[in-house]
Amino acid sequence: MISKSIQNAINEQINKELYSSYLYLSMAAFFENKNLPGFAKWMYVQADEERAHGMKFFEHLVDRGGKVGLKTIAGPEIDWNTNLAVFKQVQEHEAAVTASINALYELALKEKDYPSQVLLQWFITEQVEEEKNATEIVQQLELIDAKGTAVLMLDHQLGKRGKE
Ligand SMILES: [Fe+2]
Ligand SMILES: [Fe+2]
Repeated sequence: MISKSIQNAINEQINKELYSSYLYLSMAAFFENKNLPGFAKWMYVQADEERAHGMKFFEHLVDRGGKVGLKTIAGPEIDWNTNLAVFKQVQEHEAAVTASINALYELALKEKDYPSQVLLQWFITEQVEEEKNATEIVQQLELIDAKGTAVLMLDHQLGKRGKE
């Protein structure tokens, strides 16, 4: 049986993962409006991944006899000034999620909750990848000047992203 404090923390994390999905879906809509389908595709794949993250925690609670308590998902922004601003927000958001996963792992260590530790180790590895991907795109966008050519090339490249 899972402890109440771990259960509460996992329910909070489910909300954060579902919010992440919502945020990336909003970013996909933003890029669709800008006619950058490759950027939008990247965001759709990212949004699906975040929902899957939420479900990993959801299933963990179910498997261990815990209670899932879904909370209200906040509405994300709908507009950004630049493409770079969007990906800078992705980068900052992923760093905040990493901090949250790390705090959850600390709690699982403190409570000697070994199954949660194993689950969270997967997330710790995943966050390294998430932060790496966001940083890569931020740095590429920082190299791009005001001309649209390079943005179109990056749009083509991001559009190739498949499910991971
Ligand atoms: Fe996630
Ligand atoms: Fe993420």
